[in-house]
Amino acid sequence: MSQDRAKRNAAEEAVRFVKDGMVVGLGTGSTAEIVVDLLGKKLSKDFKIKGMPTSIKTKQQAEKLGIELIDIDDQDIIDLAIDGADEVDANLNLIKGLGKALLREKVVATHAHNFIIIVDVSKLVSRLGTRGPLPLELNPFGAGALQILRTPPLSTT
Ligand code: A5P
Repeated sequence: MSQDRAKRNAAEEAVRFVKDGMVVGLGTGSTAEIVVDLLGKKLSKDFKIKGMPTSIKTKQQAEKLGIELIDIDDQDIIDLAIDGADEVDANLNLIKGLGKALLREKVVATHAHNFIIIVDVSKLVSRLGTRGPLPLELNPFGAGALQILRTPPLSTT
């Protein structure tokens, strides 16, 4: 089976868990992209969802498909999140984030009641870290405040 077919199969299975009215975390990457596409095509008067995208790319894709979007600041309860992964071991430990959406993906996954990871067989490894680098995301939020903490305290004399 081709990798594209395997990704599509995984995406189709995951979409079966999405029910009308759900808030759905929309992952990032080529596998999650198929999910978003399928969800967009499934929209109807009997099937409406609110999507919470994990990246600007996913947001733009979902917007084009007419999926209503919701922000984590407005709604922190997510019924189901669906996302891909870079590596998965036999104990279902994962590496995610090579698609550069690690922080948002983690925040959305943390708030999701259910989280489905969809991967093709190429992502399965016996030990994490064997296929590629470990993604790190540095966020500048609060860096200025840390700088202030490092300056000596004001003298009162
Ligand atoms: C995004 O930051 C990643 O976590 C992706 O979910 C991961 O890289 C999988 O992407 P593919 O589905 O494109 O392999």
